[in-house]
Amino acid sequence: MENNLNMSGSRPAQANGSEPLLNLRNVWKTYQMGEITFDALKDVNLTIDKGEFVVILGPSGSGKSTMMNLIGCLDLPSRGIVELNSRDISTLGESELAQIRGQMIGFIFQQFNLIPTLNTIENVMLPLEFQEADPTFARKRAEELLAVVGLSEKKNNLPSQLSGGQRQRVAIARSLAVNPKVILADEPTGNLDSKTGSYILEFLSGLHKREGTTIIIVTHDLKPVQYADRVVHIKDGMVEKIETIHREAM
Ligand SMILES: Nc1ncnc2c1ncn2[C@@H]1O[C@H](COP(=O)(O)OP(=O)(O)O)[C@@H](O)[C@H]1O
Ligand SMILES: [Mg+2]
Repeated sequence: MENNLNMSGSRPAQANGSEPLLNLRNVWKTYQMGEITFDALKDVNLTIDKGEFVVILGPSGSGKSTMMNLIGCLDLPSRGIVELNSRDISTLGESELAQIRGQMIGFIFQQFNLIPTLNTIENVMLPLEFQEADPTFARKRAEELLAVVGLSEKKNNLPSQLSGGQRQRVAIARSLAVNPKVILADEPTGNLDSKTGSYILEFLSGLHKREGTTIIIVTHDLKPVQYADRVVHIKDGMVEKIETIHREAM
């Protein structure tokens, strides 16, 4: 029997043409610290379709970064299954996972994760170098992306010579370098003033609308919610509820 009250977020293949990108099924993540174990995620079920803009919202310590690491194939669950494009990621080897991450997913980390000894343009070129792209192409692409995020004139600055908002924009340009199908952002507005935060969200929203890029944001900040197709509320490592946002057609 059809269960209309299914709050798990796990849905069967859609009749309306949407295709699942990611599927978390009964996912647990348990951290072991000596004798002590801690369940950071408890039986999480969530499906994210290609082209969705999803905000995973929860307070500090609720398991958001843990979830982002699983979604981004940076970590494996302790129990349960994470599927990407219908493939169980635990069956893939590290080099295959690294390849998927490199080609498909653009990461925007909470602490930016820029390389301090590389300047702005070199940081943006890095993912292309990992893909062994032609260096001339990589530099040209990085220059285009820096123009997009409004940082062309800072291309020779080191991260230490940039403001927080500028560092975040470098991180965004870098995440876009490989033209990813998915952008995965951990607290992208967390360390920014509200104007820069809005700029970043507008930018991601534009990418979502123009290119159909799947955007997944994990955050405690309510501001990204206004751009989302769905909001996944998490608390104490559990999915509390999933809200679908219905917008009036303009
Ligand atoms: N490597 C780890 N070892 C032990 N506990 C961890 C580890 N990473 C996270 N935790 C714990 O798991 C919980 C969720 O952490 P996290 O996913 O970082 O939450 P959030 O990103 O929502 O703030 C927290 O209580 C945190 O202390
Ligand atoms: Mg976090």
